Amino acid sequence: MAQNSTSAVADRSAESEGLVVQKNLVKVEGLWKLYGENQSLATDAAGASITKQEALEKHRTVIALKDVSFSVDRAETFVVMGLSGSGKSTLVRCLIRLIEPTAGRILVENDDILQYDESQLVQFRRRKVAMVFQHFGLLPHRRVIENAGWGLEIQGISKEERYERTQTALDLVGLQGWEHAYPRELSGGMQQRVGLARALAQDPEIMLMDEPFSGLDPLIRRSMQGELVKLQRDLKKTIVFITHDLHEALRLGDRIAIMRDGQVVQIGTPEDIVLNPADEYVEEFTRDINREEVLTASSVMDKAEIVLLNSQTPKEALEILLSRSLDSGCVVNDKGECVGSVTVDEVARASKAGSTDLASAMNGSTKPVSKDTSFGQLIPLSLASDRPIPVVDDDGKLVGEVHREKLAAGLGSRNHINNVD
Ligand SMILES: Nc1ncnc2c1ncn2[C@@H]1O[C@H](COP(=O)(O)OP(=O)(O)OP(=O)(O)O)[C@@H](O)[C@H]1O
Ligand SMILES: [Mg+2]
Repeated sequence: MAQNSTSAVADRSAESEGLVVQKNLVKVEGLWKLYGENQSLATDAAGASITKQEALEKHRTVIALKDVSFSVDRAETFVVMGLSGSGKSTLVRCLIRLIEPTAGRILVENDDILQYDESQLVQFRRRKVAMVFQHFGLLPHRRVIENAGWGLEIQGISKEERYERTQTALDLVGLQGWEHAYPRELSGGMQQRVGLARALAQDPEIMLMDEPFSGLDPLIRRSMQGELVKLQRDLKKTIVFITHDLHEALRLGDRIAIMRDGQVVQIGTPEDIVLNPADEYVEEFTRDINREEVLTASSVMDKAEIVLLNSQTPKEALEILLSRSLDSGCVVNDKGECVGSVTVDEVARASKAGSTDLASAMNGSTKPVSKDTSFGQLIPLSLASDRPIPVVDDDGKLVGEVHREKLAAGLGSRNHINNVD
């Protein structure tokens, strides 16, 4: 009780500081899955250092998952990415216990689901989690509404309630009007929407999606990704999404885990992955990525070198800039909101003209940008201006500034960007 009230206070203060308070919903700890003769590799000291190849050759054992640990926050879209055979499907199937792991723990709200008995597992699958598969898994002789309601039907939910919930889910995925069609009458994209509706109709907290869009042609695939992003904005499910396509991962993921040979080699935000790939394997994935789309102002901004107040006079601003040998500075009002920036030349001119109003000096001022502004939008702004671009948060408060050199570094070499400080 005392602990709860303390954490509630902590949460509130974090919120008031503008921090997002997120809590783990799923926590995977030291998960192993072995196929083959030597199951003890998961618990032996020998297993820790053995490679997938050695395990296969010396122990006739496939390491599908090796000591995998990560956690997923509530309402997060967590993408798992890796080449074919890296263990993605094994991992996501373990999360719903379609595959029994060899060792480790899977905590969902602190409950180890690997300890669940049959009836607890049934409840877990009914209430908490639903899965969308790559090959839609539709029953050919059933109409769309029956296919989408199938998950509810096996839970024994009444026809009336089933149809109501299924209709809502079909509306969400844009399939109204198709309720009575058969799968063969639908395109691949539409069939996958039925698969998605089937999972949504169950209203699970956690959605597991194993390459749901891989079977679709590129245009449909992109539009399905866009729709999922939109849906997720409202639904705020906790999603574990599997893909082998980094573009898809970057588009959908709040964070991305990269797997290789059954191990997680890196977990990070899309920007982390692109800017600082952990090794050559990850770097290889990021090679074709259009950095202009992925990177944002927040990945390259510096702390503002100087913050001027709009209540200062041009003369005062000039003295401050000269004393710090700076060419320009950001200007904020008394609430900390950024109102623009001034250069030495501008304040010198205004001061000479006898002006006492700093705002009147801000002629060529660059408008502040949000920290989520993409590189694609920043580049023309930066080229059009002779000063750093001020960056603001959602409340318009100054949080940093973007310098042209760092923007260029972000587009170019991957490590350089973090060495400039
Ligand atoms: N039933 C099984 N018996 C033996 N080995 C298996 C079995 N299922 C999977 N594996 C092995 O486990 C490893 C991981 O397979 P998994 O299907 O999880 O990979 P994946 O990353 O999903 O690949 P893909 O992108 O091709 O779907 C592979 O080496 C695979 O050969
Ligand atoms: Mg797979």
